[in-house]
Amino acid sequence: MTGLFDFMSDFMSNVIAIDGPAASGKSTIAGMIAKRLNIAYISTGSLYRAVALACLRAGRSLENVPRSFLETLKLEYRPGADDQYELMLNGEFPGAALRGLEVAAGASKVAAQPDVRAYLLDVQRSFANKNLIVMEGRDIGTVIFPDAKYKFFITATPEERARRRLSQEGERFDAEALAEVARAIAERDEQDANRPIAPLKPAADAVIIDNTGLTLEESMLAVLEHIE
Ligand code: DC
Repeated sequence: MTGLFDFMSDFMSNVIAIDGPAASGKSTIAGMIAKRLNIAYISTGSLYRAVALACLRAGRSLENVPRSFLETLKLEYRPGADDQYELMLNGEFPGAALRGLEVAAGASKVAAQPDVRAYLLDVQRSFANKNLIVMEGRDIGTVIFPDAKYKFFITATPEERARRRLSQEGERFDAEALAEVARAIAERDEQDANRPIAPLKPAADAVIIDNTGLTLEESMLAVLEHIE
């Protein structure tokens, strides 16, 4: 028997939207889901990072990036290492250049600009097609694909995310360092959740997964359970 969901899903975007705050593990989980289901995975944060990198390389300001500049950029996702899609900027994989601190700070600046978001909205929507795809970011389920078939919001307490962030950096840390990073994370959440454009918040129909105390594998299985 065809259920209401099967009927409705014919009219929905073939997207698994995974949103959430920084260091919630959402990109790792999105990648694991894509591998499990053998489908493509796109990290949309790399688009904002690529815009920032292109501005820095061109020696232009990160404030008020105009559409005319955005239109000169060639942004495409191509299979890179591990067969996962990676963003190509002007015909080359920027790789590690996208992950630097300056680029991350710049990405956050350009991501707050309405013109940049409007331009990248069209770019992101162009990725939806017949095949199911995992897209991870901050506003996939709320703005980019409000009609996504599956929506998840992955989060964890600021302390847990601070612990992950510090462990990732591979250094030893004490309670004071942990508290300081947790405070900075909570502050950024507050800023992201209160920005006027595309604020960080779960879609009303998203499944919220608080993975504090869960391993990445357990979080991935929690997502998978809803899809299957
Ligand atoms: O997920 P990330 O760290 O690569 O994201 C880089 C920046 O882009 C971050 O400041 C949040 C922003 N971003 C956004 O505003 N909307 C998205 N869909 C993805 C990322």
